[in-house]
Amino acid sequence: MATIRNTVPATVGGSLPRIDGPLKVSGAAMYTSDHHFPGMLYAVPVCSTIAKGRIASLDSSVAVEMPGIQAVYHQGNIGPLFRSAPASGLSAYLDERRPPLEDDVIRYYGQYVAVVIAQTFEQAVAAASAVKVVYTEEKPDARTHLDPDGKPSVDSSRGTPDEVFASASIKHDETYGTPVETHNPIELHASVAVWDGQSFTLYETSQGVVNHREVLAQMLGVPQENVRVISRFLGSGFGGKLFPWPHSALAAAASRNLNRPVKLVVSRQMMFQNVGHRPRTQQRVRLSATAEGRLTSLQHDYLNHTSILDDYKENCGEATTYLYGTPNLRVTSGLVRRNIGTPTSMRGPGAVPGLFATESAMDELAIKLKMDPVELRLLNEPEKDEGNDLPFSSRHLSECLTIGARKFGWSQRTPEVGSMKKDGLTLGWGMASCSWIAERVSTEATVDLRNDGTARVSCATQDIGTGTYTILAQIVSEKTGLPLDKIEVVLGDTALPPGPISGGSWATASVIPAVSQAAQNAMQVVLTAATKGKNSPFSGQETDALNFENGQVYLKEKGGETGVAFHDILKQSNINAASGSGKSEGTFGSTAPRKYSTHSFGAQFAEVTWQPEIARLRVNRVVTVIDAGRIMNSRPARNQIEGSVVMGVGMALFEKTTYDPRQGAPINSNLADYIVATHADSPEIDVTFLDYPDLVLNEFGARGIGEIGHAGIASAITSAVYHATGVRVRELPVHIEDLL
Ligand code: MOS
Repeated sequence: MATIRNTVPATVGGSLPRIDGPLKVSGAAMYTSDHHFPGMLYAVPVCSTIAKGRIASLDSSVAVEMPGIQAVYHQGNIGPLFRSAPASGLSAYLDERRPPLEDDVIRYYGQYVAVVIAQTFEQAVAAASAVKVVYTEEKPDARTHLDPDGKPSVDSSRGTPDEVFASASIKHDETYGTPVETHNPIELHASVAVWDGQSFTLYETSQGVVNHREVLAQMLGVPQENVRVISRFLGSGFGGKLFPWPHSALAAAASRNLNRPVKLVVSRQMMFQNVGHRPRTQQRVRLSATAEGRLTSLQHDYLNHTSILDDYKENCGEATTYLYGTPNLRVTSGLVRRNIGTPTSMRGPGAVPGLFATESAMDELAIKLKMDPVELRLLNEPEKDEGNDLPFSSRHLSECLTIGARKFGWSQRTPEVGSMKKDGLTLGWGMASCSWIAERVSTEATVDLRNDGTARVSCATQDIGTGTYTILAQIVSEKTGLPLDKIEVVLGDTALPPGPISGGSWATASVIPAVSQAAQNAMQVVLTAATKGKNSPFSGQETDALNFENGQVYLKEKGGETGVAFHDILKQSNINAASGSGKSEGTFGSTAPRKYSTHSFGAQFAEVTWQPEIARLRVNRVVTVIDAGRIMNSRPARNQIEGSVVMGVGMALFEKTTYDPRQGAPINSNLADYIVATHADSPEIDVTFLDYPDLVLNEFGARGIGEIGHAGIASAITSAVYHATGVRVRELPVHIEDLL
């Protein structure tokens, strides 16, 4: 094989604007609900107004006679919708497994009981309210306090934590809680289904088109090749759009039944009922330490609620087993069923609520030890992952902590509560460590080098607003030497080679090996064409004698003057495009033995200002230092961390979905009552990347980014609140009245 080397300045590691930016700001980017087809109909679901019971009767006789109504589907006439077979790993995965309208049992408030199909959206809304449903109602259980339901399972265990904790003189034992949080991307979930008599084309708000196709093919009972799923642009997702939800099957079934395109856009209220949320967690944390601050034991026992039928586990102990060193540890978990829709992944599922508990406990332990909380963390830095006995591929948490402390000015901190003042305000300073998984999933990609001098790279992953389009172009640019503006990136379509879900912060790490290999193979095709082409100046040469650099083919020994543009080589041989494909295996869920523990790390430092006179609390300043491997593109990467921090302000101070205990309804199911952090709530954010490549993950050493910035931040903020006010908030969010 010829050496393929590239000498142009690397675009990987730069600070580049998103290549899809102009399409978005000019309105040319087609989001799911922008799709419109001749003869398209509108679907509006009818939602249950009870949380537990049965449908006694459903009368659609008035609704079907209303203007423009094409059909009212319910359990009796929706036609076949099958259960998706149990998932193996992340193949054909979904959280709410029951197909919509499968039976007449109501298990949560808002559950779809029917769907109205009309010529216009307004007609469908009107008729949906005319469907008369009588329920046999039972008392639902939508309580957010969780009592263990059966024996907890042991997630991880080492040593003898009970004995050590019992006999320890310095210990801490508290319970922390995080509320139900609901994903609220501005783009509502939507599905536009087009059935052509044989195949479905589904335009979806999906963070994972490949998985979506597998699930919907199974539900609709058609071969996978008869389902195409398209998700070119997303107005974000935060995990809520990772896996299919029932509305997608409703739109597809209606399109099939009526032989017309059908659009279903979920309402903001349905966003709180039907498309997942982060579940309520309750987490007891027990720590013991020596007088010097070495952790002698750590116990993390957590519960989360799940729905009546599905076993969604919020893996709160994700980071607990490896973040600090301690010989004695146990993590246990339990699920508690509630009459609430099925929970799902939300930004940093597991680790984010888990770290709120464990990092808050570390802060409280530091206070008991009269130790600086940064020092406590540095002292308990482990040499390896003690949870699985593997070395870390690349761990720089200590450096995150020390750099963060320096940038924040931590050495100026006086630990006494309320002791720091500035401009008449009380200051509170708090910090936390953070961590998140670093994984790869199997990916395929194709790169075409075309005879017009451009390249095309394609992969059925998607860009949920994080910069994936740009990253793929950067990888191809890095490999081929073509400038970014000559590289077309095509994503978000199951017609393309299968790619990763945009989740777990692993899309970037996953696409790098496959796209690199595809580019390499495409360049090799060009070199072969160069040696074979009758009119090629390199005709008769061995490919090993040639180089592909900066988009040109050279004779190695004669150097640059012999260069011929790759597209001229292709034209001389009458080849339209040189195609290369690449394929890489995943690490996530793989049974292959691991050599390393792969994670991202970081440190969060937060400053709050407190004005007790007017009960005003603000997060004023955040310094965050992130160790997420090589940063492919610092501009979208920084945006990701900034967004995570802002979302962390929301988690700490605002976000909470409240259920009416009588009806089981989410009662703040709109953006006026469910408070998310806005620009006005956003602190000054200083983001630093350590940028150490993690070459265990891929050749560029990128781990991916996104959720890591959301980890630890809520606990840094509540620790700062304690420092300012003396009130330790262990139940999120902070309510201002707790502080008075
Ligand atoms: Mo993220 S919760 O894996 O989209």
